[in-house]
Amino acid sequence: MSNKTFYITTPIYYPSGNPHIGHCYTNVACDSIARYKRMQGYDVMFLTGTDEHAQKIEEKAAEAGVTPKQYVDDIVKIFKNLWSYMNISYDRYIRTTDDYHIESAQKIFKALYDKGHIYKGEYKGKYCVPCESYWTETQLDENGCCPECHREVTEKSEEAYFFKMSTFADRIEKLLLETDYLRPRTRAMELVNNFIKPGLEDLCVTRTTSKWGVPVPFDEKHVLYVWIDALSNYITAMGYENSAYDDYEKYWPADVHMVAKDIMRFHAIIWPAMLMALDLPLPKHLAVHGWITFNGQKMSKSLGNVIDPLVLGERYGADSIRYHIMREMALGSDSSFSNKIMIDRINSDLANDLGNLVSRTVAMVIKYFDGTLPAERESDELDKELISMAEGLRTNVDKYVDETQLNNALAEIFKVISRANKYIDETAPWVLAKDESKKARLATVLYNLLESIRISTTLLSCFMPTTMPKVWEQIGADESLITYENAGKFGVLPANVTVKKGEVLFPRLDIDKETEELNAILLKNAPAPAEDADKANLTPISDTINIEDFGKVDLRVAEVKSCEKVPKAKKLLCLQLDDGFGTRQVVSGIAKWYAPEDLVGKKIIVVANLAPAKLCGVESQGMIVAADVGEDARVIFVDKDIPNGSKLR
Ligand code: ME8
Repeated sequence: MSNKTFYITTPIYYPSGNPHIGHCYTNVACDSIARYKRMQGYDVMFLTGTDEHAQKIEEKAAEAGVTPKQYVDDIVKIFKNLWSYMNISYDRYIRTTDDYHIESAQKIFKALYDKGHIYKGEYKGKYCVPCESYWTETQLDENGCCPECHREVTEKSEEAYFFKMSTFADRIEKLLLETDYLRPRTRAMELVNNFIKPGLEDLCVTRTTSKWGVPVPFDEKHVLYVWIDALSNYITAMGYENSAYDDYEKYWPADVHMVAKDIMRFHAIIWPAMLMALDLPLPKHLAVHGWITFNGQKMSKSLGNVIDPLVLGERYGADSIRYHIMREMALGSDSSFSNKIMIDRINSDLANDLGNLVSRTVAMVIKYFDGTLPAERESDELDKELISMAEGLRTNVDKYVDETQLNNALAEIFKVISRANKYIDETAPWVLAKDESKKARLATVLYNLLESIRISTTLLSCFMPTTMPKVWEQIGADESLITYENAGKFGVLPANVTVKKGEVLFPRLDIDKETEELNAILLKNAPAPAEDADKANLTPISDTINIEDFGKVDLRVAEVKSCEKVPKAKKLLCLQLDDGFGTRQVVSGIAKWYAPEDLVGKKIIVVANLAPAKLCGVESQGMIVAADVGEDARVIFVDKDIPNGSKLR
């Protein structure tokens, strides 16, 4: 085993309901990186697990009439089953209810207390039960509700222990602004401005209202409040302050913690502060990705908009789902899930580009050479670009994997696959095959194709681990040739390689039929959204109008080119739209539900002939169409292929 180590973690998930496709993203991404690093020869530790002491779990268990432990035991089985289905090659799975973790978390709490970083006080504040968070008056939203989930908060006070975070404010600011700890770096300023500059507040780290938690070792009426328990998993799972494992020295500090943006603050501020207080080294990188959204909202069980990965996997295979979610999500931005986009992607990239390349190449070797290439070669200028792209691919993918930009890593691999398809058209093997004197040239073309496939699928196998071995069987690549080292060079397959016809790797889909069928299946399986229970709250349909009345409203499709918050107006976003005729500025009261980056690049509907008006002093030339969903507003997004300026009728 190599002495180069690589330690990567996912967050530990709340086992408070079945996992959905949004949960899969982080694990699939970490798994792909872990596989890549193993292929590079690193001794990898890939950790995932479950965060089991949450108050909402206690509530769910009570609803189900079981103990919290029984409840989490059942859900953990479902999580583990999904990870195995998605081929997640984690090396360790931590449950915060594991005895060793409880022991270590208690020792960590005690150490922080003994060092004077934790003190006992009285907590009074506004408390949000679903988020398990206290908020100060100034942090509440404009309706006096939780600034994260916008639900009601209750007044609460209790004796509690506090972690003195302020001690570490300067060091954390430096960590965020002067190092490449946080990825993407663009989020650092926002954290510093929102949390550090106004004064880092001490953090309430225990509570007395629940028994479902790790008891404070010297004051048992308190249990650890979510973060010290949860965040410390990254070191307790390595054996820090326990004897269950002995891997702390070997793997800590972690190379990458990957999390979604909603828990960025905890990993960018609280976790480093805890480690600083314990005098422990800090993790090297925190990679923050966006959410998989559905109709512009975070996919989450409480919103009832979850997509079950097992349903998708059954239809398209786990590899296609892995590919789709990684290809669509750019680090730091949200990725909107749509059945149609997924089906398009599977068809164009996997069935048409990759599947077709493999099947055409193998079929030609069989047709023209009975399956075994002759050793004679004849090169041509035409070969150079393909060979140099294929040889250079590994360096590009290395870079993107190291920067946790997996969508770009996949894009690089598919550039080579596309280039190889183009090479078939350029070299026209079917023409060469007609000329006996071109046999050596034909063999060279087919060999170059097989080599390009070998190189790209070797690298792709880290992202799509089950399908690629089937490719290698077809192109005659013995698994001993499938190495990281060989992925960096051309000419590895034997000159007289023998191919084998195999099954279709990715069957081509009829996009419209498939989208329709999938929509129907997902609709049938979807849990009832919370709003459905509340039909009585829908606004009554308005009085009838005639077609002329409707014709007066000019609705147009427009693309959001840029978007920013309106200073001093919490509710407002100012959007610059391309409405097909030029740029139009629209101010919209949707800041509560959408961040600017959720909207940029999307197509929306604008009421284009509304008289301009000023909102908080900023001119608005029209209005964006959104749906009222309970208390929320949801912007109506439209297909990207509808041109800007298209009129709605
Ligand atoms: O936050 N899109 O757990 P959690 C993308 N227990 N990723 C998503 C997602 C979505 N729609 N929904 C969930 C917790 N995730 C805490 C963490 S860590 C010390 C404690 C992913 O189950 C994303 O990685 O609510 C998120 O960070 C993770 O699930 C955990 O969410």
